[in-house]
Amino acid sequence: MGHIKLGVNIDHVATLREARKEKNPDTVEAARVVYTSGGDMVVMHLRQDRRHIQDSDLERVRKEVKGMIHLEMAAVPEMEKIALKVRPDSVCLVPEGPNEVTTQGGMQLTGKQAGLEKIIRNLSGAGIEVSVFADPEPGAIRAAHNMGADAIELCTSAYSQAWGKKLQAKELERLQLAGFLVKELEMELHAGHGLDYYNVVPVARIEGMDCLNIGYSIISRSMFVGLKTAVGEMKRLIQ
Ligand code: PXP
Repeated sequence: MGHIKLGVNIDHVATLREARKEKNPDTVEAARVVYTSGGDMVVMHLRQDRRHIQDSDLERVRKEVKGMIHLEMAAVPEMEKIALKVRPDSVCLVPEGPNEVTTQGGMQLTGKQAGLEKIIRNLSGAGIEVSVFADPEPGAIRAAHNMGADAIELCTSAYSQAWGKKLQAKELERLQLAGFLVKELEMELHAGHGLDYYNVVPVARIEGMDCLNIGYSIISRSMFVGLKTAVGEMKRLIQ
């Protein structure tokens, strides 16, 4: 494993704040801790229903904290407009369903999708690195590549949810093969969703892995050990 970047998703700091609609816990404070504890990027998913991260979280973190911001967003005009205004360093395009508790798998990528291709082109043209959240399947990866994405974020939820060593090994192999294709296409390789302190190491060891985006497990652990320790422990694990 070389230097793998750690993107720390702080959505659930905002989830807790939204439970009371108060000012705390503050995402700006969380972002500062992430950057000073080994996190390379702060990740935020601005959902269309604004259930956790608000537009003001994105704007304030951009303005008040120095560091890389990675925005996860649905590939829709509303979000494209916000991204072009706030200018995160990178964007990951994700599918978004109305009643899901969390992202359900990678983008549906079949053949040419003019709308998606246009959003990728516009964001890329503005100097924002674009990744596409994809299941570890060759067709999806090639489609994202053909549409001009710079990076693929492999969806690790099937691996994370795999029950038993045999099934987990099978899902890991799918990720390894998909990672090989991503590198063959000379794209950046990212992965995330459902990764935790127990299952992360084999994913970090995938050849050519550039970045892991992790949220729920880090924020959950931070309740007991603090965010600084939770981020630092994860960073050490993936190196
Ligand atoms: N990557 C993507 C594309 C996601 O949508 C999410 C969840 O917002 C994550 C990574 C982080 O997943 P988790 O919170 O399960 O670590």
